[in-house]
Amino acid sequence: MIKTSGLSKTFPGGVDAVLGVDLTVEAGEIVGFLGPNGAGKTTTMRMLTTLLRPTGGTATVAGHDLLADPRGVRRRIGYVSQGGGIGPATPVGDELLLHAMLYGMRPGRARERAGEILERLDLSGLESKPGGALSGGQRRRFDLAFGLVHGPSLLFLDEPTTGLDPQSRANLWDHVRRLRAEEGLTVFLTTHYLDEADTLADRLFIIDHGAIVAEGTPAELKGGTGTLDDVFLSITGRSLREDRPTGDPGPGAPDGTGGGPVARAADEGR
Ligand SMILES: Nc1ncnc2c1ncn2[C@@H]1O[C@H](COP(=O)(O)OP(=O)(O)O)[C@@H](O)[C@H]1O
Ligand SMILES: [Mg+2]
Repeated sequence: MIKTSGLSKTFPGGVDAVLGVDLTVEAGEIVGFLGPNGAGKTTTMRMLTTLLRPTGGTATVAGHDLLADPRGVRRRIGYVSQGGGIGPATPVGDELLLHAMLYGMRPGRARERAGEILERLDLSGLESKPGGALSGGQRRRFDLAFGLVHGPSLLFLDEPTTGLDPQSRANLWDHVRRLRAEEGLTVFLTTHYLDEADTLADRLFIIDHGAIVAEGTPAELKGGTGTLDDVFLSITGRSLREDRPTGDPGPGAPDGTGGGPVARAADEGR
């Protein structure tokens, strides 16, 4: 479902954010992409979702070549960005319909699919509420609905559970698992919660300083002893990384990842 070879990104100005990533994700897998702040997770994900143009390497995503056929990739994938994208004022149901129609669905089909996905995510009845009136967990599930309304076969989630309370985290994960079972979805996600990566992901990749430093099933990585936290710290070290917010706001918003307007202008809008 995903195959990359030497995928790299050097930002204008010389920041080597991703340095030759090779990874493979099979159809139907839930794969966790772990790494300290600034390791290159969001940059990799934004390349795989066609939002950033790689400066090196190749990739096939959901059956389409990332560089030669980005539109083909876009049609088959869903992406929920770090921090999400729900506006505070618009009724979330209207926004979801709009989203579906932006993907080319006719109004009737859009309404049908929106109803189906809201039902799946336990969100039915909340359509008329503005984003600001939802709980954190509901907002995150609506973010998922936006990413899924066009029926993608591969879903990218960037830190979907960051900031949620333990109940909402567990609930979101139940939904992700169910979506995999019911929609045959493949899921590629980042998280800082190693306990959840341990119990929910089939396979993990750990990235640090732009390169994959470990991969395997949670059991393989733990090697029978210790927790995933122990393994993660022994691989990536204990030095503190920048922990300023690294949300990836939509086009036009200030870039929280440290890039200037030049980088964004050069990288987006293709
Ligand atoms: N638009 C950008 N311009 C320049 N540097 C960037 C940009 N976006 C991210 N970076 C840098 O690339 C590195 C990887 O960032 P990122 O992919 O956001 O890491 P993560 O998601 O793992 O926290 C960091 O050093 C970050 O500061
Ligand atoms: Mg990130």
